[in-house]
Amino acid sequence: MSFENIQWIWKNGEIMPWADATVHVSAHGLHYGSGVFEGIRCYETPHGAALFRVEEHYKRFHASAEVYNFAIPYSVEELTEATCELISRNEFASCYVRPICFMGSGSLGVFPRNCPVEVSVMAWNWTAYLGAEGLEKGVRITVSPWRKFHSSMMPTTAKACGQYLNSILAVSDAFERGYDEALLLDMNGKLAEGSGENLFVIKDGIIYTNKADDSILMGITRDAAIEIARESGFTVEAKSLELDDLLNADEAFFTGTAAEITPIREIDGRIIGEGKRGSITEKIQTTFFDAVKGRDVRFTKWLHPVGQFVTT
Ligand SMILES: Cc1ncc(COP(=O)(O)O)c(C=O)c1O
Repeated sequence: MSFENIQWIWKNGEIMPWADATVHVSAHGLHYGSGVFEGIRCYETPHGAALFRVEEHYKRFHASAEVYNFAIPYSVEELTEATCELISRNEFASCYVRPICFMGSGSLGVFPRNCPVEVSVMAWNWTAYLGAEGLEKGVRITVSPWRKFHSSMMPTTAKACGQYLNSILAVSDAFERGYDEALLLDMNGKLAEGSGENLFVIKDGIIYTNKADDSILMGITRDAAIEIARESGFTVEAKSLELDDLLNADEAFFTGTAAEITPIREIDGRIIGEGKRGSITEKIQTTFFDAVKGRDVRFTKWLHPVGQFVTT
């Protein structure tokens, strides 16, 4: 991943050169993580670049902000339009989009008094988050010694900046020990999620994933994978999962905007299923990529063409 060669960024209502979008070191968000963000992918389709489930992402952006009482001064429609304009100006055929809303510079008490709300949207080329090989062959993961925080501590369904320190601890430990990703357990020892992904396990042809009660972010890719799986004739059950369910699974995979649909082939040195991308995972993954790339008419409802806002 690199931020080189990006020309434009959207900040507080206007598109400006990338280099000009700076923030003061006294910004509240920098000190306390007071901000919320999103991750959205834009894919190349036969009809041009298209944003995947952009409305759901910007609705979650607003919902995350509401929990923290940050008032985003732009509607879902305005943010969508701004994103399309930004992608067009950068002339990206496909990209990853990162909207962020954070408390700016004003005061540094913990309560963000008189701090302006800053909103920005960045876009850049970001290929497979867990590697192209991971997408094809599956990734090796480890159970993190860090537990996922419980919803009585922080709102697990919000995508807030400071909350990601929990994920940073988990993924740093996993990398140090030579794994591709961490899996966090919840406060009660049940499976929660990856540092930036939701989890699915497959046993005897049934697909299982956990739920909001299990301290997870309610992923938009998770929701897409459930719909794709059901459309493909599979049974999907949402229930709490134990570590045992993963260790004894025939197949497992992660979902996320960055990670897309990534098979899991090994956990802490124990092989899952045949130690490669399983056949059900492959079917869901293939349908997912057909959906996001506009090749499956059943799912074009999830795509928002960028082109309709092309500026000259
Ligand atoms: C902690 C966490 N869980 C799950 C997900 C997957 O969510 P989505 O599919 O909406 O990207 C993400 C990524 O946004 C995440 O950061």
